[in-house]
Amino acid sequence: MKNLLIACSLLLSAVALAGEAELRAALPGIFAKSAARYRALDAAATPLAKDAKGKLRTPHGWNAKKGELDMRSVRWWTSGHFPGSLWYLYEATGDAFLRDRATWWTELLAENSKVTDNHDVGFIMYCSYGNARRLLKTDRYDALLLETADSLCKRFNPRLGLIRSWGKIEDTKKFLVIPDNMMNLELLEWASKAKGGERRFDDVARAHSGNTMKHHFRADGGTYHVLDYDQQTLRVKAIERGQGASCETAWSRGQSWAIHGYTMMARETGSKEYLAFAQKVADFAINHANMPADGVPYWDYGAPGEERDTSAASIMASGLIELGGLVGGAKGAAYRAFAVKQLEALASPAYYAAPGENGNFLLKHGVGHKPAGSEVDTPLDYGDYYFLEALLRLKR
Ligand code: GLY
Repeated sequence: MKNLLIACSLLLSAVALAGEAELRAALPGIFAKSAARYRALDAAATPLAKDAKGKLRTPHGWNAKKGELDMRSVRWWTSGHFPGSLWYLYEATGDAFLRDRATWWTELLAENSKVTDNHDVGFIMYCSYGNARRLLKTDRYDALLLETADSLCKRFNPRLGLIRSWGKIEDTKKFLVIPDNMMNLELLEWASKAKGGERRFDDVARAHSGNTMKHHFRADGGTYHVLDYDQQTLRVKAIERGQGASCETAWSRGQSWAIHGYTMMARETGSKEYLAFAQKVADFAINHANMPADGVPYWDYGAPGEERDTSAASIMASGLIELGGLVGGAKGAAYRAFAVKQLEALASPAYYAAPGENGNFLLKHGVGHKPAGSEVDTPLDYGDYYFLEALLRLKR
């Protein structure tokens, strides 16, 4: 029996390696066609970057009903993802035109460094300026990024040990936190290192990660979406459904944010606790009875048979590739193999748009906010961003 199990596991590893080799061989082609789509997207979006009142906007998605790009304010939480995808495509192809367009779009986002009314400044600025500084090997954006880190820390409540996700800093009635917030901590980890190991930013990131780990997940590793904390008793006052199907199920993208976020915190801090937790939240998703065979989750783990969410798949795949490397051994290889399966699916015509479709965004079938009836079965700029990130992680 033991020999049979070993033989089966060797066979599965061989199949996974063959799948990965095939995908890796296809990468130059996927990057080339994705770069062509983003060149076209850039050309269509550039004349729309200022609205009638002169306010700055970036492309967020495609409005199929109107047949036009969905341009959103540079304050919208996803505004860093389109420039970030251009950075990743520059990294993948070395195309200087993409670098210059990435720079142009990135520099439209500067005003976010002073914003303190949401936690998304981490997403916005680190996906854009963070990639810019890394790929251009420049420190010219450091002051702006450090200012953003300071702004984000203004949302930290030291008594709760948490950064407020939504709502105004002065609001004493509500203190809302969502698992997406884990993604904003990478900026703080960078800021801590950029300031020569200054504890302040790292302390905030660790406090937020630790308290989110304590309160935001069920025993099985599934996440709640929105928690409201009482600022007097320091207890969770209410669980809110948010973008999920119910308070009892796990919203798929929230689960993916947690996988990606705790893996990032494990990388940045070397903490074994975060690494173990990243595995717990990943195992919840991978082993879930409602996880489809191709690894592209339904929009909520409690909504089998409804729309898939390609953004949940791409965020998860990117996190799993990194997690696989940190965990190592057979378990690490299994995380990587799962991610490869997800990426193979995403790169197939079932999810990767044909030329001229989808407003030139790469992935179809994303779900933004199903309970609100908003952005259901549509391209999403962040789905593309984490798809490209995952492919680059595979390439590296
Ligand atoms: N961070 C918002 C979302 O994932 O929809």
